[in-house]
Amino acid sequence: MLKTDDSTKIRLLPEDVIGRIAAGEVVERPAAVVKELLENSIDAGSRSISIDVKDGGLSLIRVTDDGEGMSRQDAICAFQRHATSKLRSDADLWSIRTMGFRGEALPSIAAVSHVRLLTATRSDEVGTKLDVAGGLVGNMTDAPPVAGTRIEVTALFEQQPARKKFLKSTATECTHIIRVVQQAALAWPAIQFRFTQNAQELLNYPTVRSERERIAQVYPRAFLDHGLPLHDGQTGASLTGYIIDAVHAKPSRIPQELFVNRRPVRSLTVSHAVGEGYGSFLPRGCHPRFVLFLDVDPERVDVNVHPTKREVRFSDNEFIHQLVRRAVRQRLSGGVGAPGRDDTEVSERATPHVAVSWPDSSGMPTSRPTETTVLPQPGPEIQLAFVSEAAEPYVRVPAGEVVALGQISRTFLVAQVGGDLVVVDQHTAHERVLFERLYRAWTARSLQAQPLLLPDPLDLSPDHVALILRHQEELGKLGLEIEPFGATTVLLRSTPVGLGHVDPKVFLEDLLEDLHQWERVPTLEARVRSVLASLACHGAVRAGRSMKLDEIKVLVEEWRTEGEITTCPHGRRTSFRLSTDDLEKMFGRAGW
Ligand SMILES: Nc1ncnc2c1ncn2[C@@H]1O[C@H](COP(=O)(O)OP(=O)(O)OP(=O)(O)O)[C@@H](O)[C@H]1O
Ligand SMILES: [Mg+2]
Repeated sequence: MLKTDDSTKIRLLPEDVIGRIAAGEVVERPAAVVKELLENSIDAGSRSISIDVKDGGLSLIRVTDDGEGMSRQDAICAFQRHATSKLRSDADLWSIRTMGFRGEALPSIAAVSHVRLLTATRSDEVGTKLDVAGGLVGNMTDAPPVAGTRIEVTALFEQQPARKKFLKSTATECTHIIRVVQQAALAWPAIQFRFTQNAQELLNYPTVRSERERIAQVYPRAFLDHGLPLHDGQTGASLTGYIIDAVHAKPSRIPQELFVNRRPVRSLTVSHAVGEGYGSFLPRGCHPRFVLFLDVDPERVDVNVHPTKREVRFSDNEFIHQLVRRAVRQRLSGGVGAPGRDDTEVSERATPHVAVSWPDSSGMPTSRPTETTVLPQPGPEIQLAFVSEAAEPYVRVPAGEVVALGQISRTFLVAQVGGDLVVVDQHTAHERVLFERLYRAWTARSLQAQPLLLPDPLDLSPDHVALILRHQEELGKLGLEIEPFGATTVLLRSTPVGLGHVDPKVFLEDLLEDLHQWERVPTLEARVRSVLASLACHGAVRAGRSMKLDEIKVLVEEWRTEGEITTCPHGRRTSFRLSTDDLEKMFGRAGW
């Protein structure tokens, strides 16, 4: 039995508590080691944490922090099973405010690897170096008194060949580690996180002051640009974060991040409530996307229900479900409790890319039309028609012929098609037209690239540059020539022929989201469709751009030629149609 006295912070737990702490497989893969070490560094009050790995963590995982460190006595205790400084009694299990509490992680890691610990507290005159191999504490020597802790894990699973066999490629293991680091980073914006693999820096998130700024470091800009801030609270629980505006939802599920008391977890209750909150706001085939921080009174949530703490249990599920569902619903409908639309949305609507060149039938952009809303010319003939019988007898426009009538709110085009009244959303309809053309050209292998004359260097994070480079060749086949231009910059050299103006910076953000998905989508066709859909969306005329009657006619005709499909590639509606029969019924003329 280990002796403890008041000078040490780590104590053995009473047996009954040990019994209550579920044992479990903590170390399933390198990312799980990183998760545990990061959580320890966070609990130690670190301001800056560096994670360095080699070969997806299999050769080396090293986590260095500037936290409170450990005394020599604590350093030995740390590798004892069920030894923790974070929990003292049974009652504490119900008010956990630290990431760790089981006193299990370090001994579990040390049981399946070689661990070297270097640590010192701020008051230590000499630091401690300790080697632990196969669970056995070995050499302890002096080390420089650098305040903080560094843990190096090598030879992971060397004695567990069965476990090692289950691991995936180093690239996949690295991706899992990146996820773990990103999740920790999202939850702790005030901590700096750096991550390198094989000496190459893949992530670097300097300290920021808000969750919003951290989200901007982690996710492509498009998420925040189309995200709605959420803030809702009640006694015992509060919900903050961002949810994607329903009109910008996509088939993508990235991100779907939930943190309960800063812990990254999955929760059926919460995902279900988010889904219900979106309800019918969500276009078909699209998913909610969110980064949500749910802070619950520690007494109302059990965090000790999963071996790697990936799940939690709420004492009152219905209360949490209601809170989340209501907050999401109210935010989407702009109702009570929803803060005003934030600046980014305002500026998005005001950015110049809402006015685009309209390609003529040759696919070449024509000059920009004037910005006034176009209505049918109210000439004297029309006024005359009001007061007297029209000279011409009533005629139905021949089937298929399009008569452009005008535009409403610079967004909806109104036309007569044969005997029908058709209202078309100019953006989604054009998006559909462009998508069908691009897709046809791709299947016929005739997709051509149009070089951009003066490509601007676009700044990205190193992992995003790497993501693009991994798919550079496939993207080239879609007319997207993207070249690296330094470690954190790329050039977009071409887009496919036939699109309107594409803002490279904004497009790239969406492309990155598609590429995130690519890594999970097995079929080439599905991958290609997602990127072509993004291209079509960016190349299509925006809502807010006024259109002349001849442009309206061309677009409605093109939309008809492409099959009058009633949704855009992202599932949003393109059109609405009323036949003469419908109109007659509506006005009580049916049966005349
Ligand atoms: N980076 C660190 N800085 C300071 N102290 C640390 C650090 N890592 C571990 N410790 C100390 O070692 C103890 C054991 O760590 P370990 O991760 O095994 O258990 P825990 O964090 O208490 O609980 P859990 O098993 O749930 O993670 C911790 O309670 C803490 O006191
Ligand atoms: Mg721990």
